[in-house]
Amino acid sequence: MVFERIPAEKVDSTVLGDSLKLPCGRVAKNRFLKSAMTEKIFTWTDHPNTRGHPTQRIISMYEKWGAGGFGVVVTGNIVCHPTMLEAAGNAVVTKENANSRLMDLHRKWTTGIKAYGSLAVAQITMGGRQTPYAIDPEPYSASDVQLIDAMGINKFGKPKSLTVEQIKNDIVPRFVYAAKFLKETGWDGVQIAAAHGYLLSQFISPTTNKRTDQYGGPIENRMRIVLEVYEAIRKEIPKVYWIHRLKTEDAVTSAALLDKAGFDFVEVSGGSMEDWGFKHREKESTRRREAYFLEFSEKIRPMLKSSVLYVTGGFRTVKGMVDAVNSGATQGIGLARPSAAEPDLPNKILSHEAYSAPDSKFPQNEHVVSLLAASSQLWHMGSHSLAQVHDPTADLPDFSVPEEAAKYQKDLGAYFGDYIAKVQRDEPVYGTFNYVPYLTA
Ligand SMILES: Cc1cc2nc3c(=O)[nH]c(=O)nc-3n(C[C@H](O)[C@H](O)[C@H](O)COP(=O)(O)O)c2cc1C
Repeated sequence: MVFERIPAEKVDSTVLGDSLKLPCGRVAKNRFLKSAMTEKIFTWTDHPNTRGHPTQRIISMYEKWGAGGFGVVVTGNIVCHPTMLEAAGNAVVTKENANSRLMDLHRKWTTGIKAYGSLAVAQITMGGRQTPYAIDPEPYSASDVQLIDAMGINKFGKPKSLTVEQIKNDIVPRFVYAAKFLKETGWDGVQIAAAHGYLLSQFISPTTNKRTDQYGGPIENRMRIVLEVYEAIRKEIPKVYWIHRLKTEDAVTSAALLDKAGFDFVEVSGGSMEDWGFKHREKESTRRREAYFLEFSEKIRPMLKSSVLYVTGGFRTVKGMVDAVNSGATQGIGLARPSAAEPDLPNKILSHEAYSAPDSKFPQNEHVVSLLAASSQLWHMGSHSLAQVHDPTADLPDFSVPEEAAKYQKDLGAYFGDYIAKVQRDEPVYGTFNYVPYLTA
């Protein structure tokens, strides 16, 4: 049950129910993609070998998106390096932590997602310079450019520049190891995360890549590591289903390179710790069109001869989604925060029960609060299995209730205090804010 939805025109949603055939032959049953959201509730220990195993809460959470009607379900980042995590509590798949128990847990996880016909896609990444200081004070990056958190809260070490030998003999093989493990445990595909400021995007962006060798300079060189990861995996797994998450910077040229290499689909999104892009650009035209990156996607689309295009960021109404598909600016619709608020939104849209996402009562463009709120909703979503609650939204705090949104913002103060104190003590911050909802408090 959703208390209040964003006011929206009632438009026919049929086009969003059309399937999408990918170059590899696989079919997404509709246009909806549940976008990556870091969960931070996998196992966390001091020792790299026992980190990152799925918990029951993760398995229960993901069943809801499968049952909720998403054609594609993408995980939050799965780190394929033992120390370069994005946060304590990330999923980890490395040769150090893998064992038969980890395989069984991944099989259980993918079985839940796929039970209603969704494609299950694992996002693979490494934190690089965006690894919290408390987890790895000396991470690697493209160059030694240190990350300064725009909010002034998080702390990151000065990174070391990867040598060519390290790229070829350690970094690339680790992506390959993870992809093989994920294929064996039931994932339909992997998404190479190259947006939001993580290691691969540190190579793509000229702000963080100051190299003068074959991995630096023109965009073709800055993209080299992504294509090497792709080709190395392709060699081991010939017919794998592929997605790449692209940053808007240099997007047009990189999209052409990805299409030529053979990626099945490309997802456009943006934003990083230095420049939070998950909000409406100030331009009125962008605001009217709802999604943040449609201007980029319109330029990218003609470059894609066979890769399928998804756009994520800002979609909230059926009208916005239908217009974007009908205009040709995108083929698929990625949803992150709306999917945390309502995991069965696709089913409700396709059955004409809903024409928009829940109208959360946080101040407009208050992206930090809305990100944290989504993260808290994920935690609640995993509280019970689908068999226990039947309704995928059953456990969720509903921030379209004004009192719920107000209590959340109030309670956030104490959580932040604790968070900052931990960062200052160089302690890893595990998990999300386990908010106690107003309606049940
Ligand atoms: C709680 C949260 C966690 C996120 N974690 C990731 C992540 O692990 N990997 C990633 O590529 N993007 C991540 N994102 C970005 C989203 O995938 C998406 O691009 C962004 O939220 C904009 O889409 P939206 O307007 O539908 O929320 C995250 C977003 C949220 C809200």
